[in-house]
Amino acid sequence: MSPKIDIQVGDLRTVEVEAICCPVFEDVELQSSTQLVDQATGGQISRLLELGDHKGKLKQNTVLYVAEGLKAPRICLVGLGKMEKLSLESIRQATAKSMTTLRDLGVKSAACWLPDGVTTEQVQALVVGTKLALYQFKQHQTSSDDEQSESKSLEELLLLVPDKNSKVSVERSVRIAEAIADGTILARDLTNQPANYLTPTDLAETASRVAQAEGNGCLDCQIYNRPELIEKGFNALLGVAQGSQEEPKLIQLSYRPDNAAESTDTVVLVGKGITFDSGGLSLKSGSGMMSMKDDMAGAATVLGTMQVIGKIRPNLNVIGLIAATENMPSGTAQRPGDVVKSYGGKTIEILNTDAEGRLVLADALGYAKTFNPKAVVDLATLTGAVVTALGRCVAGIMGTDQELIDQLKAAGQTSHERLWQLPLFDDYDDALKSDIADVKNIGDGTAGAIAGAAFLKHFAQGCPWAHIDIAGASEYLKGNAYLPKGASGYGVRLLTQFIRDLDAKTI
Ligand code: BES
Ligand code: ZN
Ligand code: ZN
Repeated sequence: MSPKIDIQVGDLRTVEVEAICCPVFEDVELQSSTQLVDQATGGQISRLLELGDHKGKLKQNTVLYVAEGLKAPRICLVGLGKMEKLSLESIRQATAKSMTTLRDLGVKSAACWLPDGVTTEQVQALVVGTKLALYQFKQHQTSSDDEQSESKSLEELLLLVPDKNSKVSVERSVRIAEAIADGTILARDLTNQPANYLTPTDLAETASRVAQAEGNGCLDCQIYNRPELIEKGFNALLGVAQGSQEEPKLIQLSYRPDNAAESTDTVVLVGKGITFDSGGLSLKSGSGMMSMKDDMAGAATVLGTMQVIGKIRPNLNVIGLIAATENMPSGTAQRPGDVVKSYGGKTIEILNTDAEGRLVLADALGYAKTFNPKAVVDLATLTGAVVTALGRCVAGIMGTDQELIDQLKAAGQTSHERLWQLPLFDDYDDALKSDIADVKNIGDGTAGAIAGAAFLKHFAQGCPWAHIDIAGASEYLKGNAYLPKGASGYGVRLLTQFIRDLDAKTI
């Protein structure tokens, strides 16, 4: 559960919470606020540091129990590592670790002191680290082995600031960070949801709920159902959908700023929304299918990002497009060898029905171009090959516009949702040549992640485009400080940062 975050002018010594957090660095003296706490408790903190029981190492936590001198009964020493190495990511990690420590102790309220000079980005890192660390997906667990752990949740985080002026600016930063974290949490929830609870229809309903709830009128949601998809020629999407009982949906969320001018730039974000990927007639193995409820992570990221956009309202048109369907085998399923005509008119020979993501994206990218966008960015759990190449800590990026790729990579550094570029040389195009159609949907078995992008390039041609393969980054198998095991919600923070950077450029 996400804690309520309040900002107050105050003092750590007198604040009435169950725990106060004090930062400790490896290489510098105690912060003045911590020194005051130390004095009030008769030097408990300095004694502990002298004994070497806490070294200030990144993510090191020590909880002290206080008999007198403070209103709060606990102090949590939060290791931030070396001050010279302090980064937004170390703040996220350290806060995340200490908040879960306190949560697991059963602490319900905590306070942190924000010193003068703390930057907007640092405040946001603290809030994002807190909210994402405390995320849990427990909707389907009716009872817990450990009944107590069920009720453990940090309900309130109090951020203490020195004066009224800083309160105003911190408040603004906190609300933006909360929006970003909530967008990521929405993406995690949708991705974690099993396929029998989240169909393309459910995705469409969520999108229209987001538009109504968050947009304050600036977000518009349009859903294209099967009849319109047939009429408009979204045949590649329809082909993937034809083996399933579930209705396919093309979901469009459009954000326009209040004072949008003719010349306002448009960015289109496209998400792969396969709510379950069995492989179709090119059926996956049992173990290969096990995590395939996650195959709509790109769609979840686009939805989560559009929710954030509706709240922070950049001065830029942003369109979110989601191509949603199941990929199932049945008597009506698409066959290997079939040929379909995509939205833009190009024909595709389908040689493997498990390479379905690129088919639904082919239609969505073709449609994206009709908005005459400044940039198109697609996110997709497209290939197992990208997981082999890069693992799970980074996503692969490829595209036709180096400036756009560089902007995304920069946003990836800031948000720590990192990107690694793979080449998209023309040399890779040959492997996709079909004998009977314009292009085939698989390559020669080498460079799988690039072959996927090389296929998409055919459909994105004509506007600046980048493709982000999140097959690895969308899921966390081990869990770290603020990425618990399961869906990571990767991309919401990245895309929001990218849009905010573009917005800053237009002002
Ligand atoms: N959804 C999968 C990709 C995937 C694999 C995502 C593992 C997450 C984890 C995609 O639709 C797929 O099956 N791709 C095939 C492409 C191949 C048939 C050319 C793959 O990667 O094996
Ligand atoms: Zn597949
Ligand atoms: Zn897939």
